[in-house]
Amino acid sequence: MAKVEFDPGYGSEPFASLCAKYPGKTVYPPKDFRIEWGPIFHRGRLDGTSRVLVIGQDPAAHEAAARRILVGTAGHRVQGFLAKAGIDRSYTLLNTFLYSVYGRSAGARYKSDPKIAAYRDQWFDALLAVSPIEAVVAFGGLAAHAWKLYRKSSAGQASKAKKLPFIHVPHPTYPDSASGGDDARERALTAEMLAAWNGGLEALRAALKTPDAVRGLRPYGRSFTAAELPEIPAFDLPAGCPAWMRGEDGWAVRAGATTGEKRRTLVVAIPPSVRLPQPEH
Ligand code: URA
Repeated sequence: MAKVEFDPGYGSEPFASLCAKYPGKTVYPPKDFRIEWGPIFHRGRLDGTSRVLVIGQDPAAHEAAARRILVGTAGHRVQGFLAKAGIDRSYTLLNTFLYSVYGRSAGARYKSDPKIAAYRDQWFDALLAVSPIEAVVAFGGLAAHAWKLYRKSSAGQASKAKKLPFIHVPHPTYPDSASGGDDARERALTAEMLAAWNGGLEALRAALKTPDAVRGLRPYGRSFTAAELPEIPAFDLPAGCPAWMRGEDGWAVRAGATTGEKRRTLVVAIPPSVRLPQPEH
């Protein structure tokens, strides 16, 4: 039998209490957040071994299925970014929002919401209290704002947050969303984003005292190569997740003929590249 690592979950404090008591619809109004899919808390180490805190934006379809954040398109891009910095395991990923944002403008409207920030700050506090974090990377403007709010808060002032190197880079799916389906624009925005990521990588590498691996810096070109989109590690997903959930993205989509149906329906399909046994005739 092959041994498969898995994420042990939220059994220890302070994370157990944070998962037992989390904000619901009075803090995250259902008209602006898909709270029907439940909160999705994190991905990565909660055991005191994390050296990089990554802040993302909000969970999407893949994350709703896998119950860990940043496992779809954005997640593979982030995983590759961390690998280039020599961080293969010692990271913790938290999102700005606990639930998927519904509609284009909601994220910006809630970015300074005090109740949303108060709960998110408890995660920052908890993580900084147990982990030797050496740097914080925010992917996107909302994530950067979340960290800046935390640093200004009394808990942030009391923690080591203000001393930590802080790196803000564009969100990994910014080119996809900002290009509005125009392929040429998406390519141009991807090249622009990767140039900014190269700057972020240099800053992150300079900030890290103890990376998991020492690697020469291989900067991004104008687009992602396959090697720059690594698997999501087995040790980041709950026990029993099938291997294909960690591989190429696109296995989870919201579907439906109406917006209401789409909100209710998540279609999870094993990628065609995964070979299944043929039915016997
Ligand atoms: N999925 C997440 O969990 N966070 C993001 O920022 C994007 C996709």
